[in-house]
Amino acid sequence: MVYRLLVCDAMYYDAAESMSEATPAILQQTNGTAASEAQRDGDLGFLWDFWYPALRSTEIVGERLATAMLLEVPLVLGRTSDGKPFAMRDSCPHRGIPLSYGRFDGKTLECSYHGWRFDACSGQCVEIPSLTSQDKLRVDRIFAGHYPCEEHDGYVWVYMHAPGSRLGETVPAAPKLATFSAKYKITHLACDLPAHVDHGIIGLMDPAHGPFVHQSWFWRSRGSIHEKQKQFEPIPNGFRMSPHSPSSNSLPYQLLKKRTGEPVTTTIDFILPNRRLEEIRSGKLWFTSQTTVTPVRRDLCRIDFVAAWNLFFLPVPIFRLFGKTFLRQDQETMIQQAEGLKHNPHLMLIDDADRPAKWYFALKANLLESRRTGAEVAHPMSGPVTLRWRS
Ligand code: FES
Ligand SMILES: [Fe+2]
Repeated sequence: MVYRLLVCDAMYYDAAESMSEATPAILQQTNGTAASEAQRDGDLGFLWDFWYPALRSTEIVGERLATAMLLEVPLVLGRTSDGKPFAMRDSCPHRGIPLSYGRFDGKTLECSYHGWRFDACSGQCVEIPSLTSQDKLRVDRIFAGHYPCEEHDGYVWVYMHAPGSRLGETVPAAPKLATFSAKYKITHLACDLPAHVDHGIIGLMDPAHGPFVHQSWFWRSRGSIHEKQKQFEPIPNGFRMSPHSPSSNSLPYQLLKKRTGEPVTTTIDFILPNRRLEEIRSGKLWFTSQTTVTPVRRDLCRIDFVAAWNLFFLPVPIFRLFGKTFLRQDQETMIQQAEGLKHNPHLMLIDDADRPAKWYFALKANLLESRRTGAEVAHPMSGPVTLRWRS
């Protein structure tokens, strides 16, 4: 199987730290026989009622329709004639043919099979051509599945509410990348990973694979491995690696410090369902990035990486070259991991290097529990924690 390195991502996590036993059960559930148990229950380990990036903005131009899959839901996306993006379930409510085979006129989407027409933004049916003046069917009561849709930072975001659930009154705003000056450069990379989203996410936050997977002359060598300690703190729906000076063994950080003569600080957040945010500041110079790992199917996820910076000495093509190298290294590793996961092995999470992964599973389990009971979300961290590992 060939996995696209659509355009790839960057920056490994330099993260880590402490406590509360999480629920790594899903690790055993996402592959092989145990997987089928979870899947029989209809629980694919996805987090509903969150925004996910479906496509790049540039993929929906004019009246062209595009398709995407999020959380195993097929979507058809497009843009109305006034430029507003929309996302519908790619399935006609009449007989299920994908609506993406139909015709779009800038406002309504006409199914290719019997010509039912739907308003693209609301999903409401506006015409059933076969009806006669005798028919009493209320066309306006028929809806195709549709999802809230927003556009930020070059992505079309779709709010995936749970199947069979009604969309809540208020939908939170879609995530946005932080920027700190009027002028900046921005670039996007993406890459498919042949794994359940949980493996993609814990790979993203894993601090210990750097010296092995990301050996590069421009980043680091295996020999540069040394002991680190980082402080972490709880934040709503996630955790933060408290502001710190980044690894002294990484060339890009050394260059930045030389340039500004001011200290470099990095803050890294992980926020449910799938976002890693990094902010690097040194004097007036800044670099921010957002990495999301989005579930496509139970066995496939996609990393979307967007970075912005005002470091005018860092040209986009050079950055992309490095970013792609990083992503390809992660992707190759996950392709190899997928080979092993086919046989449903027992897996481990160790302290402290896998503590962020434990927090992730605990945050996820606690969120689901709170949605079930209506109680507040319990946070797996009771306060700041220092994690120690070698990388
Ligand atoms: S299947 Fe779409 S109109 Fe009949
Ligand atoms: Fe990595």
